[in-house]
Amino acid sequence: AGGDDLAGRRLLISAGPTFEDLDPVRFIGNRSSGKMGFAIAAAAARRGADVVMVAGPVHLATPPGVRRIDVRSAAQMRDAVLGALPADIYIGAAAVADYTPRTVSAEKIKKTREGGGETLTVELVRTHDVLAEVAAHALRPRVVLGFAAETNDVERYARDKLVRKGLDMIAANQVGRAGCGFESDDNALTVIDATTAHALGPAAKTALADALLDLVKARLR
Ligand code: PMT
Repeated sequence: AGGDDLAGRRLLISAGPTFEDLDPVRFIGNRSSGKMGFAIAAAAARRGADVVMVAGPVHLATPPGVRRIDVRSAAQMRDAVLGALPADIYIGAAAVADYTPRTVSAEKIKKTREGGGETLTVELVRTHDVLAEVAAHALRPRVVLGFAAETNDVERYARDKLVRKGLDMIAANQVGRAGCGFESDDNALTVIDATTAHALGPAAKTALADALLDLVKARLR
């Protein structure tokens, strides 16, 4: 792929983790480095798309030509993504926290607070599902693609998410193993829609990004 085959298309993409603060010094997060989402944003911009990327806290340089909005929490990611609509394509590559602490302590949580400090109970509440909200939005992009990060039964859970969240496509990847998923430079994807499944890789995330965009482009027509 190359040239400007995505010129005139607007791609909105989320990338990286979210961090859910417990107090001024601690948070609940996950292992996403942002590499997968940044690779897709970079490839799409190279191919002429107008790319807006909402990025969680990661240590990666902004790819050339990409407009980047930095966020920290799942709530901030939701506001930024919904605020950046409309788009032709939405790709949810971020690992958004499913739960966030009910309250954020204004002061550092101390060990001696209650019960002698041997245990600490934190109450978590569900976050909004950004991907499902984009798929149900009045300004729904023509193609909505989610990711599914699973440790087991990857394809079955991915198909379930495709239907439940109202997606056009889902890119399933295995996490929790070396050489794919979180943090690695490489990955392997199974891209699923209502009728087909395409295996991509194992390959570098940069190469997978272009292959994934080829499949997305085919659905835009
Ligand atoms: O960042 P890297 O280190 O390169 O790793 C890449 C990756 C493994 C993070 C990436 O390939 C990936 O799988 N991203 C999705 C991770 C994830 O949160 O998967 P999930 O199965 O929990 O969520 C399913 C989908 O719903 C995802 O598109 C996610 O963005 C979306 N979601 C989930 C929860 C939520 N509250 N809002 C969402 O939008």
